[in-house]
Amino acid sequence: MYYKIITYGCQMNEHDSEKIAGMLTGMGYRSIEKAEEADIIVFNTCLVRENAELKVHGKIGSYKPLKEENPELIIAVGGCMMQQKDIAKELYRKHSHVDIVFGTHNLAELPSLIQQIKKGKDRIIEVWDSDRGLIPDVPVKRKNDFQAWLTIIQGCENYCSYCIVPQVRGRERSREPADILNEVNKLIDEGFVEITLLGQNVNSYGQDLEDDIDFPELLYKIATETEIQRIRFMTSHPKDLSNKLINICAAEDNICPHFHLPVQSGSNNILKAMNRGYSREKYLAILDKIRNKIPEAAITTDIIVGFPGETTADFSQTISLVKKASFDMAFTFAYSPREGTPAAKRDDQLPEEEKNARLQKLMKVQNKISYQKNQKLIGQTEEVLITGESKKDPAHFSGRTATNKLVIVPACPDKVGEFVKVKINDAGSWTLYGEFI
Ligand code: SAH
Ligand code: SF4
Ligand code: F3S
Repeated sequence: MYYKIITYGCQMNEHDSEKIAGMLTGMGYRSIEKAEEADIIVFNTCLVRENAELKVHGKIGSYKPLKEENPELIIAVGGCMMQQKDIAKELYRKHSHVDIVFGTHNLAELPSLIQQIKKGKDRIIEVWDSDRGLIPDVPVKRKNDFQAWLTIIQGCENYCSYCIVPQVRGRERSREPADILNEVNKLIDEGFVEITLLGQNVNSYGQDLEDDIDFPELLYKIATETEIQRIRFMTSHPKDLSNKLINICAAEDNICPHFHLPVQSGSNNILKAMNRGYSREKYLAILDKIRNKIPEAAITTDIIVGFPGETTADFSQTISLVKKASFDMAFTFAYSPREGTPAAKRDDQLPEEEKNARLQKLMKVQNKISYQKNQKLIGQTEEVLITGESKKDPAHFSGRTATNKLVIVPACPDKVGEFVKVKINDAGSWTLYGEFI
């Protein structure tokens, strides 16, 4: 029996898909690339922007003939998009070849839902509300055996005015520090060398726990009480990135010098309308503090253009912030109205063409900055964790620096999962190219 999982969205969803894979493996399924050969296909969906939703509908629709050919095939759809009950019901009604619809909060129930279908139940739609506490631990089948994602906090309660995530991922729920440390130690025993601590805002970690612990303290514990070689974390909300965190990152060698710090806009008016809780000045001051203490740190960000009411002057402020901030990389998005969020209700929405024109302009500015920053690394030696074949060019392999930059190296199947010294020979906006020394 074979499974195929199709994942959309952020690292949270990627990690949830590893949990789905773990549960399916426990049921005796094995992974397969070709959908035609699968006995079960699971979609793990995202609805953060409209195009994510459209892609899901298109792809699910395209699998209808597979189900007609093979009525035994089970098609299950879960993830954030299904956590919005109206959307889930509509999808269930529209795509009659879908057997199971489940939400993010009842992910752990998937095996029992599959069993019910196998026992002859016709179709199931079951989506839990978010108030049942932490999603229980389930077996995890990870993307490889040296890098692991580890959720430290589920949910988000920041309610940025454009964002649907708090509605589908629920309130913030932190995992117990002892459970996290146990998991890290287990991973080390299994040979893992790098962990990425995940949360929509890792800086909120611990606020809901009885223990008096915050994110910097958790990070310090992991860095000093375990033997893990590389620790990453994401995402940090700028409004509560503390000096304590910067100091701990600076002091501990195994914490990677990389901050993903979404700024979203460079205009104070827009930041306020977005409910982000910081100003452009405060944001730039945080970058100064980080670079002061950790000069080699890479800083990446997310930016939205075309938020309702964004004037050309607001947009110029974003461009000017991007130039000042000198980000290593930015994920840039055109604002997409999401039903149920305050920003979507505003009547000063910008036309699509204007949002796209601003996006193109912003990307051009940032690509140049990324290129210039990467060019400066030519001639330097970096420690690279080799992750496998390069996606674009299987004749080469790729890996990541501590600053999370992608490095293309000569083919080296025997070095996968190892740290190697690489001299950087060339650099583009997104990629470094190097040779072993
Ligand atoms: N928790 C993270 C990010 C979650 S979503 C954080 O707070 O930064 C990832 C990114 O998608 C966001 O940072 C934002 O830039 C973008 N995004 C979220 N909602 C969006 C929307 N409605 N339109 C366009 N981009 C959006
Ligand atoms: Fe969305 Fe804001 Fe929460 Fe990030 S912090 S997930 S952008 S509401
Ligand atoms: Fe992530 Fe998309 Fe959900 S960005 S949290 S998978 S809505």
